[in-house]
Amino acid sequence: MIRATVSAMNVFGLSAGPPADYDDPLALLRAMHRQVLTRTGVLERVAALLPEPTRAAEATAALPGLFAFFDDAWRLHCLDEDGSLFPRLHDLPELDALECEHRALEAIYLALRDVGTRLLAPQGHTDAVLVEAFASHTRALADGLAAHIACEERLIFPHADALPAPERRAIGLEMRLRRGGAPAPRG
Ligand SMILES: [Fe+2]
Ligand SMILES: [Fe+2]
Repeated sequence: MIRATVSAMNVFGLSAGPPADYDDPLALLRAMHRQVLTRTGVLERVAALLPEPTRAAEATAALPGLFAFFDDAWRLHCLDEDGSLFPRLHDLPELDALECEHRALEAIYLALRDVGTRLLAPQGHTDAVLVEAFASHTRALADGLAAHIACEERLIFPHADALPAPERRAIGLEMRLRRGGAPAPRG
């Protein structure tokens, strides 16, 4: 049985990875995409295990750590894009749609977190309606994030890579300030 969030994260295949740096903000943003996709994979694994009575407690043990990631790191990533990256790519036609997708994905995530919180209540994982709702929201979030990230990396990031160095440095500085000057998140 998984007894701690950190242990659960490791069992589900998550690791800290190499450090990234604010001097290369595009590398940080790409690394965050990999982290997001890893965690949607974990959410799908949790959804697959929840219907199994002998594995449900193990699966739900991973949820607090996953929710902490999406509440903190993913929220900041969206702010990095909405507040620092997208405004510097003025004329790209995809930016408005991508910003709208952030709001739509956040709404899906909040619905998922609400269901997940109820699953964490005593015997919550025995509620078949909740288990199915968790699976449905997880599919929507995983599919939506995969498509969103693929679009950003294909259509947006190449333009961001071409920004002048002072602009890219400014993005990195704003990302650091957004985190209270804390060290760069690990990719
Ligand atoms: Fe995004
Ligand atoms: Fe992104």
